[in-house]
Amino acid sequence: MSDEIDNYEISTDNIPKHIAMIMDGNGRWAKKRGFPRVSGHKEGMNNVKTIAIEASSLGVKVLTLYAFSTENWGRPNTEVNFLMKLPIDFFGVFVPDLMANNIKVLATGILEDVPQKTRDVIQKAIDETKDNTGMVLNFAFNYGGRSDILQATKKIANDIKNEKLNVEEIDDDLISNALLTSNLNELADPDLLIRTSGETRISNFMLWQMAYTEMIFDDILWPDYSPDNLREDIYKYQNRDRRFGKIK
Ligand code: FPP
Repeated sequence: MSDEIDNYEISTDNIPKHIAMIMDGNGRWAKKRGFPRVSGHKEGMNNVKTIAIEASSLGVKVLTLYAFSTENWGRPNTEVNFLMKLPIDFFGVFVPDLMANNIKVLATGILEDVPQKTRDVIQKAIDETKDNTGMVLNFAFNYGGRSDILQATKKIANDIKNEKLNVEEIDDDLISNALLTSNLNELADPDLLIRTSGETRISNFMLWQMAYTEMIFDDILWPDYSPDNLREDIYKYQNRDRRFGKIK
């Protein structure tokens, strides 16, 4: 089946189930306007709602957003503090919109190391939206691909030490199940990664999970990334030939 959605003929039966998004370019967006960097993050936060609702209406099942990486702690304190407060602002305003769109909130990351108030609002949003049956809006918060693999390795090593597991039993599924994304079950591996702002790297995002992810790098800065851009990227994805290392 094919539907004409604006200029892009998106096939409704080949929507990427899981889209991962690196929302880059907030600082540059602000600088271009002579604003402080944090105002770019605020604008970027507002855009999260717009893009999440568009993705949900297009039939995306999981949208994972890289909101704070394990490396972002290295930014100046004022910026880190601002980024830690963003979930408080976001969920304080947008939970009713998420409810109206049947969107369920999840989080992936080392939340134990996040300030208690931020953890509490994230947990509250997860609890409030837990019965929603539509798209999962998954916040990668204090997330890093290497720290994810590291904690999975420790978990598996402990299970071997405690004789709950034999080395021979370690396979792809066992590792996937030990990663922080295991709560996404069979949808843990993104079909499509979109990074805005023109940078062409994955910056320690979902390293194991992205083994066969299609990648699109857009020049647009995150606060300017629009629903039209998302539809265009899904159209591009649908014109990729995914072979998973095999031949057709
Ligand atoms: C990268 O842009 C962006 C971030 C480090 C933060 C992204 C966070 C949001 C868009 C808001 C998240 C919303 C919630 C609800 C948590 P940058 O600062 O590296 O931009 P630059 O490369 O232009 O400096």
